[in-house]
Amino acid sequence: MCGIVGGIAERNVVPILLEGLRRLEYRGYDSAGIAIVAGQNIRRKREVGKVKGLADSLDADPMSGTLGIAHTRWATHGKPCTENAHPHVSRNKVAVVHNGIIENHEDLRCAQKRNGYEFTSETDTEVVVHEINHALETTGGLLDAVKQTVKKLEGAYALGIISTASPELLIACRKGSPLVIGVGIGEYFIASDVAALLPVTQRFIFLEDGDIAALKTDQLVIYDAKGHVVERPIKESGLKPDAVDKGNYRHYMLKEIYEQPFAISQTLEGRFVKNRLQENAFGHNANEIFDRIKSVQILACGTSYHAGLVARYWFERFARVPCDIEVASEFRYRNPVLAPDTLIVTISQSGETADTLAALQEAKRQGAKYSVAICNVPESSLVRESDLALMTRAGPEIGVASTKAFTTQLVTLMLLVIAIGRRFHLPNALEEKITSELFGLPGKIEKALELNDKVKELAEQFAEKEHALFLGRGTHYPIAMEGALKLKEISYIHAEAYPAGELKHGPLALIDADMPVITVAPNNSLLEKLKSNMQEVSARGGQLIVFKDERFSASDDGNVQYIEISQVENEVSPIVFSIPLQLLAYHVAVLKGTDVDQPRNLAKSVTVE
Ligand code: G6P
Repeated sequence: MCGIVGGIAERNVVPILLEGLRRLEYRGYDSAGIAIVAGQNIRRKREVGKVKGLADSLDADPMSGTLGIAHTRWATHGKPCTENAHPHVSRNKVAVVHNGIIENHEDLRCAQKRNGYEFTSETDTEVVVHEINHALETTGGLLDAVKQTVKKLEGAYALGIISTASPELLIACRKGSPLVIGVGIGEYFIASDVAALLPVTQRFIFLEDGDIAALKTDQLVIYDAKGHVVERPIKESGLKPDAVDKGNYRHYMLKEIYEQPFAISQTLEGRFVKNRLQENAFGHNANEIFDRIKSVQILACGTSYHAGLVARYWFERFARVPCDIEVASEFRYRNPVLAPDTLIVTISQSGETADTLAALQEAKRQGAKYSVAICNVPESSLVRESDLALMTRAGPEIGVASTKAFTTQLVTLMLLVIAIGRRFHLPNALEEKITSELFGLPGKIEKALELNDKVKELAEQFAEKEHALFLGRGTHYPIAMEGALKLKEISYIHAEAYPAGELKHGPLALIDADMPVITVAPNNSLLEKLKSNMQEVSARGGQLIVFKDERFSASDDGNVQYIEISQVENEVSPIVFSIPLQLLAYHVAVLKGTDVDQPRNLAKSVTVE
């Protein structure tokens, strides 16, 4: 959701900013731009499309400078075009890059127009840069001008600010959108995400909401929301610069699909003692909280929501804890009623999804006393705002379509089911069985990955399709939903998922020889029911493609194609069945020639509403 990078150094920061943008491109890729302070001028370059376009333009007409900001955009206000691309500049004096949404931009714009400011874009951001410029004329100092301006801003923002008035100063501030400071030797950088700065530093300061940081080559001062000077700790990142490389894979998504066995081993690593989940796996005060809770409310968006849907079945089936789940963007505005002693479980790869954060805050406003975040980013806002957290340890996920984050979320959620289930009705024997299934997962996933060639062949039948239906039952219904989401995200084929039992209540009308119906068919107690649903499709000439457990005895109906998954126990089978569906979406997208890692109109981290 827009990537920001900036730097102040004694060397030329332009190549560093450009590399930072390449690494942040997953956040948005509608347009890219850069601005530097060059004497009495702001020099700026902006290009529509990907960072590559900006890099080509810089090759043709190089820029250099020791103070600069840059941006890769995911359009919210105003279409993707050069005029709307960041950085935005006010009267050749101040330049700003912004991630987030300024909600009161219309009021500010009216006032600024009255003050003689001319607008060159349709963005909400342009009001920020004019406001700072206006304040600069009256306060005389850039820092004071920024402090004055942010008081007037409503909404969410991470900002990088430079000005010809202070050629030795880079200002960064955040409220509701992420921003980190990269600490170098005699130089400082800012970025939306640590990954952008790994080539120049491994040392980071994570700004808190309301912070304003004033950065000079030899000095860093941070002011908190109340204006007090504060110290924020410097943290060492364990990530290597190549942690976000594609390696030998054609796409990040494929690399991340193949990383799943390792990612899951990492998620399990060190969390068990003698095959039992450690008592303090969720932190030292976790047990106190788990002892008190009486129900669970899950909140998440997108793929993370699908992980939560699976977990709801697990919480109720294994632990016998009442569990509800809702899409975060609905929950936050619904004025929900929460039962006392409900544990709020938020799930998010990034930990910065605006709706999920707002839903957590809403739950707290409604009296929720306990929260746990299932997250992939330890320093994220969600982790910081939750009482407890368990990291998914998937490693950086760059492909916009989530894969390894999803399966590691499922594993982590199962750990939560165990931790809570022990206090409810999870029998020891079942806990042991689940644990041993979890440890067998990396091997099962390796096996599922061996289906790659078969799935690739199957994908050829989809390249010309415009629609697809996905069916599943029980815990595999959310897996069907995730399969449909993957396909639509990256291949742009309209795909919908249904609980197979619902077929006869509407979607059956869509079935004809042209409609692929992908069915997720594990070997569980619902299999016979599912077979009847499959018959309903076959009888109407539908094109059935069944991902089935090898123990499932297939009919020899010529209309049905089977892809066989090696035997996997019911407790963890949703995790294994996700793999061929990820591969299917991937290969269909490759055949269709879409942009697999950066599909149109989407962004990885949605830090705006
Ligand atoms: C975006 C991404 C999805 C992701 C969703 C929630 O839509 O494209 O892949 O599932 O955000 O993100 P989160 O970081 O909260 O899991």
